[in-house]
Parts: sequence; structure tokens; C-alpha cells
Amino acid sequence: MNKIRHRTEKLKSEADTRALGLEIADALEPGDVVALIGDLGTGKTALTRYIAEGLGVKEEISSPTFTIIREYRSGRLPLYHFDVYRLGSGDELLDIGAEDMLDGDGVCVIEWADIAADVLPEDSLIVSLSYGGSENERTAEIY
Ligand SMILES: Nc1ncnc2c1ncn2[C@@H]1O[C@H](COP(=O)(O)OP(=O)(O)OP(=O)(O)O)[C@@H](O)[C@H]1O
Ligand SMILES: [Mg+2]
Repeated sequence: MNKIRHRTEKLKSEADTRALGLEIADALEPGDVVALIGDLGTGKTALTRYIAEGLGVKEEISSPTFTIIREYRSGRLPLYHFDVYRLGSGDELLDIGAEDMLDGDGVCVIEWADIAADVLPEDSLIVSLSYGGSENERTAEIY
């Protein structure tokens, strides 16, 4: 994932979010973890959908709020999409068997990653999303 330039980017519309998702997808390698942080509705699932599109995932991406994890195998790499909103800690993430996925040969995209930050790899790509000045504007901090 070294190709991704660390930066703060204004996402003026969802098209910019899609461009970011496609850029991230292009750079992903087996074992990479993308940690998404941001309030309700800032676009974590939307960004995941565009990362999936970039990986060539054919299935519809639906939010794993109740299942915690969804797995997609139809893209260039296996995609594990997590939403850990309902978990209390990183340990709970390990309890549900995430370790094999975090260390596996797929890529993990994790919504509400701040909750489980202590068990995520040091070299995770962090994307922190926040609301911008207008309805469709977001800011992404990428580091
Ligand atoms: N620039 C933008 N980038 C991403 N989403 C946008 C943008 N502008 C508007 N939206 C809209 O904002 C909403 C983002 O919802 P989404 O479910 O992706 O957020 P989320 O961060 O996953 O929320 P949750 O915390 O509930 O999981 C969508 O309805 C999307 O269409
Ligand atoms: Mg979501």
C-alpha cells in the first residue's frame, strides 16, 4: 500500500470518494488493513463500496452492522469488510476470529476501527472521514 500518499483531501462529492476508493483498491496488497474512522454517515460504507468496486467485487456490498464481518471473494483479492460499531474492544474482535483475516492473504476494511485500534497492525492505512461544509462534502485524512 506504499503507493498511497498520506494527505488531507477534501471530497467535494461522492465522486471524489469513489476516486479515493478506487485509488486505495489499486494499491492494496495481500494482508493490508484499511482502518476507517468517522462519525455516523460520514461515508465509511460508501468508501468501502468503492474499494470493493476497484477490487472487482461483483456482489453488492451491504453494511455488516449486525454480522460484524462480511466476506467477498469475487474480486482481485478476498475482501473482509468489518463494522465493529457493536463491539466494545479489540479483544472482542479477536474473540470472533478476526485474527486469521487480519493476518491472511486478503484485505480488511474496518469501519469504526478506532474501537479496535489496539489489535490492528501498525502499518494499517488509516482513513479518517469527517463532514465538510456542505451536504455532500467530506474531508478525508489519510495516514
Ligand atoms: N462525499 C461523500 N462521500 C461519501 N458519502 C457521501 C458523500 N456525500 C454524500 N454522501 C452520502 O452520505 C452517506 C454515507 O453513508 P454511509 O453509510 O457510507 O456512512 P457510514 O460512515 O458507513 O455510516 P455508519 O456509521 O452508519 O456506518 C450516503 O448516503 C452517501 O450517499
Ligand atoms: Mg457504515
